[in-house]
Amino acid sequence: MAMTGTEEPAPTQALFLEEWQVYRKMVDNDYLFHRDAYDCLHRYLRDEVTGPFRFLEAACGDAGMSSQALLGTKVSSYHGIDISKQALEIAERNLARLPCPVVLEEGDFVSGLRNWRHPADVVWIGLSLHHLLAPAKAETLRDIRRIVGANGRLLIYEDASPDGESREEWLARWDAQEPDWPAYSHREWTMVNDHVHSSDFPETDSTWHALGKSAGFAHVKTLFVSPTDLLRLYLFQA
Ligand SMILES: C[S@@+](CC[C@H](N)C(=O)[O-])C[C@H]1O[C@@H](n2cnc3c(N)ncnc32)[C@H](O)[C@@H]1O
Repeated sequence: MAMTGTEEPAPTQALFLEEWQVYRKMVDNDYLFHRDAYDCLHRYLRDEVTGPFRFLEAACGDAGMSSQALLGTKVSSYHGIDISKQALEIAERNLARLPCPVVLEEGDFVSGLRNWRHPADVVWIGLSLHHLLAPAKAETLRDIRRIVGANGRLLIYEDASPDGESREEWLARWDAQEPDWPAYSHREWTMVNDHVHSSDFPETDSTWHALGKSAGFAHVKTLFVSPTDLLRLYLFQA
């Protein structure tokens, strides 16, 4: 893993580093309102989950924001899944500050959650469920409902539209943000934008609520709406 100054990174490592730097720039400049969203998660976990809880994070990435959100809560264990080995190596360092056992798994979160056999009280997904189409989202929400049991909760921060908006209209509002991302070069913006246009599938507010209810969650609540109204943080409670 360690590189000397004379070695070129291997192609996959180079791609990860470039994509990672672009993603970190987005988080560091708060273009997707990570600070507000993770602060909302922190306040919810601190104030509403009063006993010890087992936390499962799907698509945890480097867990930089989630590890911060978990500090000062009663988290009793942390389990993270991500497909990127390199991201998990960074996550391991970020999660070392938690006062509880930490387990990280490399793999696909969709199949991982389908076959999950460890109990969890709170499941968290940040900006990753929107890559699935609605039927696959529904299936994953059902898998999570099974995992969290009678008193469990799922929180997500995801692409969301006001009712009545199409994916094309959501993408047009997304595109209009470019002038508000001045830290990005045009190349970096294009990298992100190509990914969003090919892989992001927002749901309307009503659809997110319906998906939660049909997965067996009794209550669905919106806890945060990004100032751009492109992203929302939902609580699904059993
Ligand atoms: C947009 S980042 C989100 C990171 C973090 N959750 C956040 O809120 O900023 C997406 C993460 O999902 C991971 N990922 C993408 N597809 C995945 C999959 N099918 N299974 C597991 N992880 C996946 C990527 O490696 C990356 O770390």
